[in-house]
Amino acid sequence: MKIEVSESPPLANAAAAADLARSLLSPEARSLVVAGGNTPLELYRLIAGRSLSLGRLHIFVLDEYAGVPLEDPRTCTNLLRRTVQEAWKIPPEHFHPLSSLEKEALASVRDEERRIAALGGPDLAVLGIGPNGHLGFNEPGSPADSAARLVDLEPSSVEANRRWFGGEHAPARGATLGLKTILAAKHILLLAYGSSKAEAVKKMVDGPRSERCPASWLQGHPEVKVFLDRAAAARLQG
Ligand code: GLP
Repeated sequence: MKIEVSESPPLANAAAAADLARSLLSPEARSLVVAGGNTPLELYRLIAGRSLSLGRLHIFVLDEYAGVPLEDPRTCTNLLRRTVQEAWKIPPEHFHPLSSLEKEALASVRDEERRIAALGGPDLAVLGIGPNGHLGFNEPGSPADSAARLVDLEPSSVEANRRWFGGEHAPARGATLGLKTILAAKHILLLAYGSSKAEAVKKMVDGPRSERCPASWLQGHPEVKVFLDRAAAARLQG
């Protein structure tokens, strides 16, 4: 794991954008898994600002709230359609959405995992991390070989979801790509900013590799770059 600590999120985003732009321009890069949430949005905007020619890329949504109307602009799918597919000028048919309807979410994420496998696994993944160490919606208790599935979320994640939806929805389940697919990505970028992530970052980097902190499985991956601000890095040793 390579860890880069910047003074502030804007500096970390600039460093991450330079790194991601390089990877995206590699001719081998065809499939990209992207996280929703707040953390990567500025990175996505910086990439859009570079006007790169990225039309060959396939964009896969990492995870999705289950139990939210499809048209809600705050689903991960709708957020990533705007901030990645449209902003980066990727053909719409290269965007792989997930369904946020409870009855469709599981089938859609399983189908997505099959489509990623058909492309030879993800070339790149851009990830955030939950305060409890989750990757996507792979909550604590997720083994490294877990598959795409519908997950019952921890109370802290349900509360984060409630805040995300301004109290209008509080999805208690999420559909997520499994850790097996995430860990199969050839290159992984993970961003974490702010003191609320410091404990999860410490467990991810310094803790034992364990289901208790799903992000700790990244320790065994050969190509992970972690971009942190000072606050998120505050509890790291050394
Ligand atoms: C959310 C999503 C993840 C995201 C993480 C952090 O619940 N399931 O895809 O990476 O939690 O979100 P944020 O970046 O808003 O802190």
